[in-house]
Amino acid sequence: PEDIRVYEFAEKINRPISDVIKVLFSLGLMMTKNDFLGSDEIEILSEEFGVEVTIVDPKDAFNYEEDMAETIDENATKRPPVITIMGHVDHGKTSLLDAIRKAKVTEDEAGGITQHIGAYTIEQHGEAITFIDTPGHAAFSQMRQRGTDVTDIIVIVVAADDGVKPQTDEVIKLAKESEAPVIVALNKMDKESANPDMVKGQMAERGLNPVDWGGDIEFIPVSAKTGMGIDDLLENILLTAEVLELKANENAMAKAAVVESSLEKGRGAVATVIVQNGTLKVGDYVVCGSAYGRIKALIDENKKQIKSLKPSHTAVVVGLNEVPSSGEIMMAMKSDKEAKEYAQKRHEYDRNKELSHSTKSTLEDMTSMI
Ligand code: GTP
Ligand code: MG
Repeated sequence: PEDIRVYEFAEKINRPISDVIKVLFSLGLMMTKNDFLGSDEIEILSEEFGVEVTIVDPKDAFNYEEDMAETIDENATKRPPVITIMGHVDHGKTSLLDAIRKAKVTEDEAGGITQHIGAYTIEQHGEAITFIDTPGHAAFSQMRQRGTDVTDIIVIVVAADDGVKPQTDEVIKLAKESEAPVIVALNKMDKESANPDMVKGQMAERGLNPVDWGGDIEFIPVSAKTGMGIDDLLENILLTAEVLELKANENAMAKAAVVESSLEKGRGAVATVIVQNGTLKVGDYVVCGSAYGRIKALIDENKKQIKSLKPSHTAVVVGLNEVPSSGEIMMAMKSDKEAKEYAQKRHEYDRNKELSHSTKSTLEDMTSMI
């Protein structure tokens, strides 16, 4: 809390310094622009100016993650939307993505069950759209908790013959919390037992009202099997994205989010990332949590080596010294030294956190013993 000075606070809330000082004076606090604000003062000021303030743990101060708002400047240009496909097991998420890519992902997967998240970029009428296929919601929740969620639009897949199921409910909850716009894909419409009105009714009961019922949620009938409705779905995604006015600066230092990572034979630690800002390039020094390295290769979803990766695009990064966790942020650094330093600090921080956890549990154990 003692981290912020009066002028910094004014900058953050976009108000003249004099306004902030005036309010402080009116409270009997004679402060100048270089004085540090305490948490009480911050609270009062936030109320006075009607802004919401989150006080970041000072231990996080070393963090290399910057606020996206700061890195998106006037040089930002339009970027493609990132779509997360979610839904109940077997409702056809992977098949749908497959139909969209017109490639066969499902068949390669053991038993047709998605073992991991995949991220892919496709093009519709020359416009890119990036999709994330998620087997569960763990990674998604992780990213949300860390505030590194890359999802711009959520597509909830509901099998029209099966309707809303427990995991559909979970997804609805997540979607509401994330505040990302939602599009519902009514899948398996080729089936005779498909009953789109039943699904619409169930979803309306949960506050997701279909546009054709006077609500504001698009329900797109599709069939991953026949390909019916796919174009419609993509058009709707692009329309929704248009309204969001998504932007990023291709020339900034790259910032990307890890959606998946693993240790691969011959390649070492690899991470599938989606670029949030800037352009990630082969040869870049990067830090990613406590991992760091120099990017040796970028491999796109077609297993092709590429030289650079623009905002909202996805590739596998090779060159990290250890496997980062999903939801971690990767940042390009000016030098190997800088990347290493940040990684080192993070490493220490993680270790301290672990230590304080174990101390705490020891104390608890002791108390319970008494
Ligand atoms: P998990 O990743 O396990 O959660 O499943 P998923 O949602 O990715 O479902 P997946 O794409 O694996 O499809 C599940 C089953 O439904 C498979 O047998 C698909 O062939 C079938 N399926 C998917 N979409 C359609 C469709 O539009 N019509 C019909 N008839 N079957 C479909
Ligand atoms: Mg799947």
